Amino acid sequence: MSEITNEIKKRRTFAIISHPDAGKTTLTEKFLLYGGAINQAGSVKGKATAKHAVSDWMEIEKERGISVTSSVLQFNYGGFCINILDTPGHQDFSEDTYRTLMAADSAVMVIDASKGVEAQTRKLFKVCVMRHIPIFTFINKMDREARDTFELLDEIEKELGIATCPINWPIGSGKAFKGVFDREQKEVELFSDTNKGTTTGEVRKIDVNNPELDWILGTEAKIALEDEIELLDGASAEFDQEMVNKGELSPVFFGSALTNFGVETFLEHFLKMTTSPLPRMSDHGEIDPMKEEDFSAFVFKIQANMNKAHRDRIAFMRICSGAFEAGMSVYHIQGGKEVRLSQPQQMMASERKIIENAYGGDIIGIFDPGIFSIGDTLTTSKERFAYEGIPTFAPEHFARVRQMDTMKRKQFVKGINQIAQEGAIQIFQEYNTGMEEIIVGVVGVLQFDVLKYRLKNEYNVEIRLENLPYEYIRWIENEEINMDKLVGTSDMKKIKDLKDRPLLLFAHEWSIRMTLDRNKDLRLSEFGRS
Ligand code: G4P
Repeated sequence: MSEITNEIKKRRTFAIISHPDAGKTTLTEKFLLYGGAINQAGSVKGKATAKHAVSDWMEIEKERGISVTSSVLQFNYGGFCINILDTPGHQDFSEDTYRTLMAADSAVMVIDASKGVEAQTRKLFKVCVMRHIPIFTFINKMDREARDTFELLDEIEKELGIATCPINWPIGSGKAFKGVFDREQKEVELFSDTNKGTTTGEVRKIDVNNPELDWILGTEAKIALEDEIELLDGASAEFDQEMVNKGELSPVFFGSALTNFGVETFLEHFLKMTTSPLPRMSDHGEIDPMKEEDFSAFVFKIQANMNKAHRDRIAFMRICSGAFEAGMSVYHIQGGKEVRLSQPQQMMASERKIIENAYGGDIIGIFDPGIFSIGDTLTTSKERFAYEGIPTFAPEHFARVRQMDTMKRKQFVKGINQIAQEGAIQIFQEYNTGMEEIIVGVVGVLQFDVLKYRLKNEYNVEIRLENLPYEYIRWIENEEINMDKLVGTSDMKKIKDLKDRPLLLFAHEWSIRMTLDRNKDLRLSEFGRS
């Protein structure tokens, strides 16, 4: 096996998804601690402080004290080279959050044990399902009062439509949390919260048949555990690696990221169950990183104006095959020419660093003089294949853009188009009215502010946004359908994108169903083609 293939085999590239506050940051931090990438807990993102260190590229981030960009963290553990793709949550949720998932080979879903499946998890989960990537579940905060375990699993199965297979099982929760039972090893890992910020604290394991356990857990808890295990063995899906690989079965783990309990157990199992970089579809068929020796990568995110003085952009790309070397020349398929990849960067814990080498599975940021678009392919292969495009994800907030100074139409059009090309916003037009008015759609409302700010600061154009009442957008799959004959509902609006493709906006979910009912041949999609 070549050295390159060896390196790629070691890669594990995954995204962490969760609803804000479920404990994603805390869990990531504990992973890094095990990998030795940081020395003490708190250095990744003490929310207020270090978050800035990760990216203080845009003024708006500094002003608001939030991170608009998502970052990638790399560390080594147990012979693996791990890339964690952080998906921004909170109000900075954006289309980038979805796109990040396109660069991952698997996903870890963090769920708060007292809350269960929440809105943001549901949205991100849908994208994972669309890609059929393995999904692992970490049920966090077991040191707090949790909901009934069976109920939680049931909710995941019903709401997300995926089977679950608990790898371990919690014994109590909150003050009564005693630890987890390892179903395969048949031993109990006893909870202790003494190893909060360290990796050195000892985890005590005890065989489930050891009489000492009755004494440690107390008779009541022990009997409850035995009952639950019996029920679980009868009712839950068996572990099946094939199903995990296809994203049909999610292995479930319980723990408490804050107290560092169950994190290493999770990491070890996860690394065994997850995959090294997967083949990706291109217009020349599947490209398998274990067979394809040439370098290839696709752009999944463009970060604008990291250095305002230069108006430069960084294109983040996921390497799919081969090796990368700083300064190498590659062919940019969509641009139709050779480009030199300069200033490669990688995120390491809380800082950006310049890198020399990277391999399939890794994420790198490349200086972009404004030539790349989301979904573009770069390769050294003579075959010149292009990877499948990244879909356009449904915005949930819409506004009509009013330009304050109509004299600046040219700058306005240029600015808004450029920002749309970077993928921060989507722009649409009225269908059929002949008006040139622009409607912007965003996934997270913060992007409206980013748009206003950037148009003013970079293009000297001031705009006013008039919020529209729509929340749902659907692409029309059968574009040949006669739009004029479409019978919609009163809260529906016909629009088109810049490529003149028709779309529909709805204020309510029920009107989507009604419209589908009224137009039997209409086929709608939640994802658009790029
Ligand atoms: P997020 O990235 O998913 O948004 O969540 P984050 O890790 O920031 O965690 C949200 C809050 O939940 C934090 O508390 C964190 O300390 C707490 N937390 C995370 N994991 C656990 C856990 O296993 N058990 C308990 N009891 N709490 C947990 P905070 O007070 O909001 O923030 P901070 O001031 O501690 O940073």
